Amino acid sequence: MKHDTSTPFDGKISDGEIYARLSTRFMGRSIFLYDSCTSTNQCAAESFPAPDGSVFVAECQTAGRGRRGRSWSSDDKGGIYMSLLLKPHFSPAFSAPITLVAGLAVCTATRSLCRIDAAIKWPNDIVCNGKKICGILSEISTEKGQIKYITIGIGINVNNDTFGTELSEKATSLLIETGKSFSRAEIIAEVLNRFEKYYVEFSKNGFAVLKEEYEKFCITLGKEVSVSQKDGAYRAHALGISPDGGLVIMCENGVKIVSSGEVSVRGIYGYI
Ligand code: BTN
Repeated sequence: MKHDTSTPFDGKISDGEIYARLSTRFMGRSIFLYDSCTSTNQCAAESFPAPDGSVFVAECQTAGRGRRGRSWSSDDKGGIYMSLLLKPHFSPAFSAPITLVAGLAVCTATRSLCRIDAAIKWPNDIVCNGKKICGILSEISTEKGQIKYITIGIGINVNNDTFGTELSEKATSLLIETGKSFSRAEIIAEVLNRFEKYYVEFSKNGFAVLKEEYEKFCITLGKEVSVSQKDGAYRAHALGISPDGGLVIMCENGVKIVSSGEVSVRGIYGYI
């Protein structure tokens, strides 16, 4: 799709532009901006005890991290690389669905701001037209059985106009999907506004209260999937989401629930 040159160039992200659009009580009230850093998740962790809800944003990362030990491509060609630092009072066991909560915030924010048909590939990849526009990496630090902090790292492909040959098969950007460039500051603020609402709900009442909305956008449901775990892969049919964010599947052995920490799930005909 052709780049619409009538839209303004999205220069460097400024904290003023983010603050101007924030309607949150604590999320994003302290913003740390970097031209370049190793990984915003690392910056967030190293900044502890920065205030709850602090946000770390970089123009590029030299050691961007993905899930399952993979790297995250992080050049300065228009992506969002941001991490939230959270200091919740709930237990580590309760925290598992937090990454789905972040996925829901990114999915609904990009749908509403960018008018795209974004969906969630369980547990938390945001996809559009079969390709990934956002990945989320949550990392938890505990002390004496309690949560010290959680970092939620969010990478969104916004104004990237191309990807390398290998990545282009599975990655897309908001620019590629819509032909328009977007203000990354505006997207960051919208994600933070939505994330705070969902996070407060989740902290009070658990993931069960967000399950229905999450299911509405979850593209994995109703699909034949391949479930991979340490000792191999098996086929299943994805039925729904459990109250604590697991994937309910029907497999050879009947109905069961798998958690995102244990397994990875792919469609049997490709990534979704
Ligand atoms: C995935 O593998 O899908 C998760 C990718 C998460 C990337 C983001 S970019 C900002 C933050 N910093 C990192 O090093 N990783 C996360």
